Formats: sequence, C-alpha cells, structure tokens
Amino acid sequence: MISLNQVKKNLQILEFIKQSDKSLAAAGYTEHSLSHAKIVAARARTIAHEIGFSKREQELSAIAGFCHDMGNFLSRSHHHYFGALLFHQIFNQNFTSEELAIIMNAISNHDKDEMNFSNRVAAIVVLADKTDVRRSRVVNKKTKKIKEDIHDRVNFATKISRIRINKEKKLITLILKIDTGFVPIIEYFEIFTDRMVYCRKAAKFLGYKFGLIINNFKLL
Ligand SMILES: [Fe+2]
Ligand SMILES: [Fe+2]
Repeated sequence: MISLNQVKKNLQILEFIKQSDKSLAAAGYTEHSLSHAKIVAARARTIAHEIGFSKREQELSAIAGFCHDMGNFLSRSHHHYFGALLFHQIFNQNFTSEELAIIMNAISNHDKDEMNFSNRVAAIVVLADKTDVRRSRVVNKKTKKIKEDIHDRVNFATKISRIRINKEKKLITLILKIDTGFVPIIEYFEIFTDRMVYCRKAAKFLGYKFGLIINNFKLL
C-alpha cells in the first residue's frame, strides 16, 4: 500500500507542484509550493487522527492533501479537476479502485463552487487547505507591494493559524491571531468568507460544528 512518503518521492508529483507554484506566482497568487502541500498534508493527517479515522484513512487524507493543488500548472480555474486526473494517471496501478476514487474525489472537490461531500477524506482536505493562512505564503516580501494586495495583506498579518478539535463537543475551531496594526479584521472576511463557509460544510459532513476565534474573539 502506497504511503505519503512514497508519494512525496514521485518525481512527476514534485515537478507538477513546482510548476503549479511557478505558474501561480507568475499570476500573482500566494505561495502554493511544496510548503503548502506539506502543511496541508500534515494538517489533514492531524485532523483525521484527532477525529478518529483509521490509520489508512489518515494516510489517504495526507496523500490527497499533499496532491490537492498540483493541477494548477494546467489551469487555475479547473486545477482541482486536472489534479484529480493527474493523480489517476500516475497512480492508477498503485491504489485499490476505492482508494483511488476517494483521493480523486477529495482533490477534485476541494475548490468547487458546488462543493458536495460524499467522502470523509474530501472534508478533511477542505479543512486542512482552507485554514492554511500564514505570513510565509506571501511571495513578494516588499512591504509596499504587500499593502497593494488584499490576499498578501491578510496572509502577512496572520501570526497564528491553528486548528483545534474537540471530539466531545464535536467542534472544530480555527484559531487565528491577526495583526490588526497591519489589516482590519474585516479584510479577512472580505476574502475568506467563502473559505469559512466551505469549512463549515466540511465540518458538518463530519458531524462537527465549525468555529472561528480571531484574536480571542469567538465566532461560533
Ligand atoms: Fe486549490
Ligand atoms: Fe491549496
């Protein structure tokens, strides 16, 4: 059975992630490099573990998390579909049909407007991906440039972004610390409201509520 460590060694996957980051950087997007892939994979595994998934489901969540954005070098607007199909082309002999379908569904579902959950791994990937907000995702580090772009401003101002799972209360909470000297909190919602709606949907599919704490202020 293929593990995340083996997927991480696949030269095509690594190249697709590298090319996707390059193509998004050229279009002015935030960082989508190996760092984002690794963070989403690790966060997906942690959430899956804390919720009580089997070891194999944790591994599938981490693999889907690692590969979720690798289709961006083919198309930004359809990257989720391309990513799923690329995964199939590379690994169709290495996973069971069911595992392949689960991972492909998780990748293709993560950025859809008509997001519709039918497997738990897909929900985990959305939670792991949509909560990766951090200063190091800002590609252009020049302060003047950062201030010009709202995504850069919000990412740059985010000092802490972590997920807390409360299994008894069935609550998944995103905890953020935002430097309000750099951006007003309203700017976070201006660009990330859709992400929070996705997280809420994903949490609901897992039987959880989704909460947000920004600078110690609870929004549940
Ligand atoms: Fe994406
Ligand atoms: Fe992503």
